[in-house]
Amino acid sequence: MNKLIVSLLLTLGISGLAHAAGDAVAGQGKIAMCSACHNADGNSMIPNFPKLAGQGERYLLKQMNDIKSGLRPVVEMTGMLDAMTEQDLADISAWYSSQKGTVGAADPAVVKQGEQLFQGGKIANGLPACTGCHSPNGAGIDLAVYPKLNGQHEAYLAKQLTDFREGDRSNDGDAMIMRSIAAKLSNKDIKALSSYIHGLN
Ligand code: HEC
Ligand code: HEC
Repeated sequence: MNKLIVSLLLTLGISGLAHAAGDAVAGQGKIAMCSACHNADGNSMIPNFPKLAGQGERYLLKQMNDIKSGLRPVVEMTGMLDAMTEQDLADISAWYSSQKGTVGAADPAVVKQGEQLFQGGKIANGLPACTGCHSPNGAGIDLAVYPKLNGQHEAYLAKQLTDFREGDRSNDGDAMIMRSIAAKLSNKDIKALSSYIHGLN
């Protein structure tokens, strides 16, 4: 056989392995421990525990690796991912990603302000619209590892934005995208945005 073709096939085979796709059915069998907080379908019932249902597969995998390595400390999950392989994490990501996320309702008192910030940013202080990365309906762009936000619990969203602002969550990489965005948000902005996103569909 042609040497070039052999090496091509080898390369394809190897990269195929390195990007082993997650198997949602296998993943469903690996989340017994997670369901207590995130629920079996990923729609957690507790506002401090994030919904994982419908979240992008790549984003989920990145967060689990960051939590496992300690780059993103989550005390509630201490040690839980230690024994999991990359394949386990890929399978779990595929499972939660394949589930349908539930949506909440925004507080009418702040929804307009939240909508303005989310869809238009704040030109005066250089805050970009969230839509550029998280898309106008909050579905995110998983190919670029921009997470889905719509329907997420308000309390969880507010905590993440505050953590980014205060430097308590720093796994957004060297570009510090979310830390520099959150630095431009007041507590009132965070409350309005979190409420609006909770009801976004
Ligand atoms: C005792 C409750 C608890 C259990 C059990 C638990 N988690 Fe979590 N998980 C949390 C909390 C709390 C956070 C968010 C912490 C923070 O940043 O505020 C989180 C965050 C996450 C995130 C990041 C979500 C996002 O939107 O960024 C993923 C993914 C995740 N957990 C997956 C899992 C998996 C998989 C398991 C099972 C192996 C698991 N969790 C078990 C409480 C739990
Ligand atoms: C330039 C792209 C970009 C823009 C603009 C942007 N984000 Fe993000 N956002 C990201 C990325 C990338 C992450 C994931 C960081 C990581 O990997 O931990 C993220 C994560 C988040 C998270 C955490 C999600 C979770 O499940 O834990 C929240 C909340 C969030 N962004 C809200 C916003 C809001 C609100 C705005 C507008 C004020 C905004 N973002 C604008 C790129 C962006």
